Amino acid sequence: MTVEANLKILVAVTGGIAAYKSAELVRLFVKAGADVQVLMTEGAQAFVTPLTFQALTGKAVRSSLLDPAAELGMGHIELARWADHIVIAPATADSLARLSQGMANDLLTTVILAYQGPVTIAPAMNQAMWSNVITQDNIKRLSAFHPHWSWVGPDAGEQACGDVGPGRMSSPEAIAHQVLGAATDKTLTGKRVVISAGPTRERLDPVRYISNFSSGKMGYALAQAAQQAGADVVLVSGPVALQVPKGVRLVSVESAQDMHDAVMKAAVGSDLFIATAAVADYRPETTAAQKMKKSDKTLSRTIDLVENPDIVASVARLTTGRPFVVGFAAETHDAVAYGQDKRVKKQLDMVVINDVSVPGLGFGSDDNQVTLVSAEIQESYGPAAKIRIAQWLIEKIADHL
Ligand code: CTP
Repeated sequence: MTVEANLKILVAVTGGIAAYKSAELVRLFVKAGADVQVLMTEGAQAFVTPLTFQALTGKAVRSSLLDPAAELGMGHIELARWADHIVIAPATADSLARLSQGMANDLLTTVILAYQGPVTIAPAMNQAMWSNVITQDNIKRLSAFHPHWSWVGPDAGEQACGDVGPGRMSSPEAIAHQVLGAATDKTLTGKRVVISAGPTRERLDPVRYISNFSSGKMGYALAQAAQQAGADVVLVSGPVALQVPKGVRLVSVESAQDMHDAVMKAAVGSDLFIATAAVADYRPETTAAQKMKKSDKTLSRTIDLVENPDIVASVARLTTGRPFVVGFAAETHDAVAYGQDKRVKKQLDMVVINDVSVPGLGFGSDDNQVTLVSAEIQESYGPAAKIRIAQWLIEKIADHL
């Protein structure tokens, strides 16, 4: 597998026994043609010497945040800007804990905080440390803020400490495959892609609104996957607590009407529109100019709602500059039949169907399971992390463009 020579990979090595396998990982990246820079934590240097990585990459290893000479060459913020992909291998329990708290007191945590691109993490630790609820909670926290980070392993098996269980770092080949696979399939080069994501907010008065539980994770993961596939991506997003993927243009909106206007502006003449947003179907007929006050023990006020524009259907109805249109359908039963029905009614080219009745998948979750349908195809994928699902969907949709 080879990549364009300008793919810049920052490999961060933290302090675990698996650090010796990272030398092989770095060799694989260099062999594939990537430009590789290694960062080591202090702990990592107790296991492998920086000289090993320097010999493999031809570059001095970065390890200290407060090294005047290194900072003069490429400061930590520049290092974060330089990288197209950061790979943390091995990622120890301590490094995951520190990253999950947003710490910034060493080079790794600082670079990660300042970085917005794709990250691949290969955890490695003792099986009991891996299974510990605190470690699992830290991983949940990281995944919640960064749904487009991807995780490899850990594998189960015999460990250096003699224990048997999950915690071994995945093989360098598996990690390299995951990282390079995402960077090589430039199936959307030259394409303009518009994605709607997140919930909308429909105001009742200056302090209250009607909304829904959409986290925006699937839309943000798709934006990153499309960007990595070479597309020029515009992400029209309702209010969410997610980091915008590197290289993606964000248009922030609040209401369904705002989202409609922003999407129509961006979608005309684009190549592909993917509607992942959970748009409020209705909005209050009137929005009070001033805060509604509590007056009585009971509230017997009626809020009249009026219909919002159907954004994906409006794009699909365009007569000039119509992109290829993909909608989402969240269903609880007869998912494929309802999804196909939605495709025909809204005149969409494809529909991604989520069966939201499966516990732990879909809405708000980091994982998903989807079925992609068109007039000709019906293919399923998952359960898998949303970034994996997104990469699969982009590959499939690109085949049909
Ligand atoms: N959608 C949209 N604009 C709306 C409502 C929905 O663009 N006003 C898009 C969503 O982004 C999604 C698709 O339409 O891609 C399906 O949305 P969904 O809410 O499931 O469909 P509805 O038509 O509202 O049908 P129902 O709620 O009855 O399932």
